[in-house]
Amino acid sequence: MAEKPIKIRVPELLEMKKRGEKIAMLTAYDATMARILDRAGVDVLLVGDTLGMVIMGESTTLPVTLDVMVHHTRAVANGAKRALVVADMPFLSYQLGEVEAVRNAGRLIQEGRASAVKLEGGRVVAPVVRRLVETGIPVMGHIGLIPQSVHMLGGFKPVGARPAEAEHLLEEAAALQEAGAFSIVLEWMPPEVARTITQSLEIPTIGIGAGPHCDGQVLVNYDAFGLFEEFTPPFVKRYAELGAEMSKAAEQYIADVREGRFPTEEHTYRAAAAKAKPK
Ligand code: KIV
Repeated sequence: MAEKPIKIRVPELLEMKKRGEKIAMLTAYDATMARILDRAGVDVLLVGDTLGMVIMGESTTLPVTLDVMVHHTRAVANGAKRALVVADMPFLSYQLGEVEAVRNAGRLIQEGRASAVKLEGGRVVAPVVRRLVETGIPVMGHIGLIPQSVHMLGGFKPVGARPAEAEHLLEEAAALQEAGAFSIVLEWMPPEVARTITQSLEIPTIGIGAGPHCDGQVLVNYDAFGLFEEFTPPFVKRYAELGAEMSKAAEQYIADVREGRFPTEEHTYRAAAAKAKPK
């Protein structure tokens, strides 16, 4: 295996596909989480517009605004040392024309300090992808279940089971690669379809609910680590139950405060000041 670079940049992901090395991507929404995931060695941190659901408590990603994305992207970029930071372009930030899309993606790069942006859709957004890439902004595509179209799709559900749908997805992926996208997220589609797309492309695919044949995988960190408890998509593997752990810790804290076990002598102002005193 090739030595891991100090900082992951867009061309490194293409090299990883060539070497047959899997790409590990997770979402992050703040600096502390970004720092933890970066330290663990994740390759890509996606500031996903899923933050609308897992951070803001909305039922879809549609209410997320560009200002909110810029704010969270900056936080993640502050925490990430090695991982490539990719920022989602929120609903209506790239559908109203190429100039508007360049301006908005530019804010995610300039103010948010992202290294790339992600947007949803295939052939329809290809001209926007081309324009962003010509401007010097790397673009990750996203096809399959595209959550910003949840109302058209009739809910969050898998796509691509029928042969015509699978063929359509293949064409969407080809259009994105042709327009200059450096990678494509394949969300919730049959593994065989994801495999065919992955084998047909030179750029890496990152799967979520798309089986094991993609060049990499992504999960929403709040799902993977058990922090988001409203619902868990069936394709998610839970690697920890941090929500339950935090509840337990909070119960202990509450009991300690109520029963006078916290603070003790070691947590008083005087003890803390003594500890902090330069030797
Ligand atoms: O917004 C997001 O977190 C995403 C992932 C589900 C890929 O797009």
